[in-house]
Amino acid sequence: MGETPIPAAVPLAALLVEDSESDALLVVRQLRRAGFDVRHARVESAESLLAALHQRRWDIVLSDCSLPGFDARAALEVLHGSGQDIPFIVISGTIGDETAIELMRTGAHDYLMKGNLSRLGPAVQREIGEARMRAERRHTLAALSDSEASLREAQRIAGLGQWRIDPPGEHLWCSDTLYALFGLERVDEQHARHTLLTRIHPDDLAAMRQAHRELQAGAERFDIEYRILRTDGSLRHVRECAARATAEDGNGARLIGTLYDITAQKAAGEALQAANARLRRLSGRILDAQEAERREVARELHDQIGQALTAVKLELQGMAPSVGDGPAAHRLASAIHITEEALAQVRGLSLNLRPPQLDYMGLEASLRWHAERQCERAGLTLTFHSSLGPTRLDTRIEIVCFRLVQEAVTNIVRHAAASRVDIEVELSGPRLEVCVGDDGHGFDVAQARRRMLEGRSAGLLGMEERAALIGGEVAIESATGHGTRVRVVLPAAGEGTRG
Ligand SMILES: Nc1ncnc2c1ncn2[C@@H]1O[C@H](COP(=O)(O)OP(=O)(O)O)[C@@H](O)[C@H]1O
Ligand SMILES: [Mg+2]
Repeated sequence: MGETPIPAAVPLAALLVEDSESDALLVVRQLRRAGFDVRHARVESAESLLAALHQRRWDIVLSDCSLPGFDARAALEVLHGSGQDIPFIVISGTIGDETAIELMRTGAHDYLMKGNLSRLGPAVQREIGEARMRAERRHTLAALSDSEASLREAQRIAGLGQWRIDPPGEHLWCSDTLYALFGLERVDEQHARHTLLTRIHPDDLAAMRQAHRELQAGAERFDIEYRILRTDGSLRHVRECAARATAEDGNGARLIGTLYDITAQKAAGEALQAANARLRRLSGRILDAQEAERREVARELHDQIGQALTAVKLELQGMAPSVGDGPAAHRLASAIHITEEALAQVRGLSLNLRPPQLDYMGLEASLRWHAERQCERAGLTLTFHSSLGPTRLDTRIEIVCFRLVQEAVTNIVRHAAASRVDIEVELSGPRLEVCVGDDGHGFDVAQARRRMLEGRSAGLLGMEERAALIGGEVAIESATGHGTRVRVVLPAAGEGTRG
């Protein structure tokens, strides 16, 4: 190999293991000629070598083969012992092939003859390049292992298990955290699949295996939940998400999955559902009790107070002939008038509390009667369409429907500043649909809902609650300036009469 000059002087820190000062200078001169800007030190014993290695960073160690009391082999040992990865080149006056091979085997990077140093420059350059690559590789590996360690730590903290299936050969790898999730110790890889499968709840196993089969067969991803029976006997709910990813070597797709324990969320969700169901049952009972009480009060008002007032009115009317035409007659007439008004109020109250016609006239007639009465009082124009006719529905459904319409109409009278009200009732198959619309100024439904959730109004909440109790829904559309439409959908067949 010829001498390849190096374009700009490259700084080089060279440590020479050499007993001859002149030989050392020969080497340094050769390096300078090859284009290096050399700084060097010369050592000739193990102690001075070690001291020099500790003192500063060297780019290369150039060692004579044998010195008085020291040699290249011992120098290599010192270098290795220091833990530094510095290229080591042996330069010898006389070196047998055997020794050279032996030295290369124990870690020397190259060897040269003092008589022919032309190869020195390129050899040093090459070895420095390789040492730099080795350092980079070490650095990358350290970074990789560091990031792997923090991934493992993150998985441990999150309780996240991970698996990976790499092609070819469908080799399955599982993280320690995955085994931990199952309450298992790591098992060797051939048995992993089987061992893990034995811990899946028997009722969930088929669905879980199906999801895996589909992924293997080409599906992009899955996201499933199932139960596992841990070795300690506890039952855990896990969520497993897996997807296909391109393997780093581009050699087909690898499958990657994660598992995490959702037992706590599951329990919280179930507790929430149970609490909701309890609340719903409770509000159902409250509404039932409210209806019963209203019926009772309505009857009382109608039968007792209404009868009493009627009797008073008859008595007063009976007195009229004996009173004559004086001022007493005027007061009597006024008393009769007041009594009549009180009677009308009592009847109105009683009708609002429990419209008796709901029981004998049916839903459609009651709705029409109620709406007409309210609109007439408030001076609103009413259009009423219904396809229900004389059809009777479950009492509870009829009461809910009546109360919803009653509240919607009351809201129009109270809040809408409308001039017309449109009511449509339609029975289509298993659904009863009721629409109550107005041409009033409308309102901000989201804001009203917030007020309702803060407990500042109860009408809309009561509507939603009543509807939900029998499996129905209320939807309100409203925009300021464009009126309001309350749409109610109820199941037409209930679960039995309880009203
Ligand atoms: N048809 C409507 N037109 C205009 N505003 C309405 C209508 N219905 C309801 N609202 C608005 O929604 C609010 C909440 O109604 P609701 O829950 O029934 O409470 P309340 O009638 O006791 O105020 C009302 O205060 C009113 O501002
Ligand atoms: Mg209201």
